Amino acid sequence: MRNLTESNLTEAVLAKLATTEDARFRQIAESLVRHLHEFVREVELTEDEWLKAILFLTAVGHKCDDKRQEFILLSDTLGVSMLVDAINHRYPEGSTETTVFGPFYQTGAPEFENGANIAEGVAGKPTYFSGRVLDEKGVAVAGAIVDIWAVDGEGWYDVQLAHLEAMQVRGRLKTDDLGRFWFWTVKPVSYPVPSDGPVGDMLRAMGRHPYRPAHIHFMLSAPGYRNIITHVFVAGDGYLDSDVVFGVKSSLVTEFTEHAAGRAPDGTVMQTPYFVAEYDFHLARENS
Ligand SMILES: [Fe+2]
Repeated sequence: MRNLTESNLTEAVLAKLATTEDARFRQIAESLVRHLHEFVREVELTEDEWLKAILFLTAVGHKCDDKRQEFILLSDTLGVSMLVDAINHRYPEGSTETTVFGPFYQTGAPEFENGANIAEGVAGKPTYFSGRVLDEKGVAVAGAIVDIWAVDGEGWYDVQLAHLEAMQVRGRLKTDDLGRFWFWTVKPVSYPVPSDGPVGDMLRAMGRHPYRPAHIHFMLSAPGYRNIITHVFVAGDGYLDSDVVFGVKSSLVTEFTEHAAGRAPDGTVMQTPYFVAEYDFHLARENS
């Protein structure tokens, strides 16, 4: 293996992968080498550009810590996350569409009873959200776990606020015998993905805005059903057609309707105007 050139270098590297034991790893590594080499050939990468790419990826890594995941952000903003999501969630007709997981999920969110406020003390417009978890045929799924996370009324996730000691605008509920769940929160607002790091520099170089349309994240699970990770988006948001992470699906958009002060659907007497939103989720059975 000597005298390798532009034209035979790729084959030489691929030949080195022949001894890879894990068949799937070999498939992925071979494809990666082929596409990576082809990409370098196609753009005729200069040495300066190559170094810039190395420094960019290094900066992406350095920006990561236990609360900031710049690599997920990079994947999201290049559409890779949504492509992986689409390939991995070819769910049957009738089940709720999925969308990007995002970098802000935290394990260990508090468990709440239905009707609780998951945004107690959080600034924002009070919102009553209710819905049901059903199967593809519309039959209630009792005891499903509804895991919720969202921004505060100013567009920040709790993990982005250094002064916070406890989680906020996160919670886990369980559906009742009729598959219902309901909770109070604050109306989500559109927010920019973190743009103070290398991914922000990339977006600016591309002339792109960093905004996501307002949404609440949901993860739904129940024994015997396939998990669903998705969002519910606020109808009318100005960024629905230009989501920086390509995550919007029309079936996930719902109205957040404003009501004057008074008695809310769960009987709570509201002293201020509030919003009401509703969304039913449909789970697909395992092996479907
Ligand atoms: Fe989000």
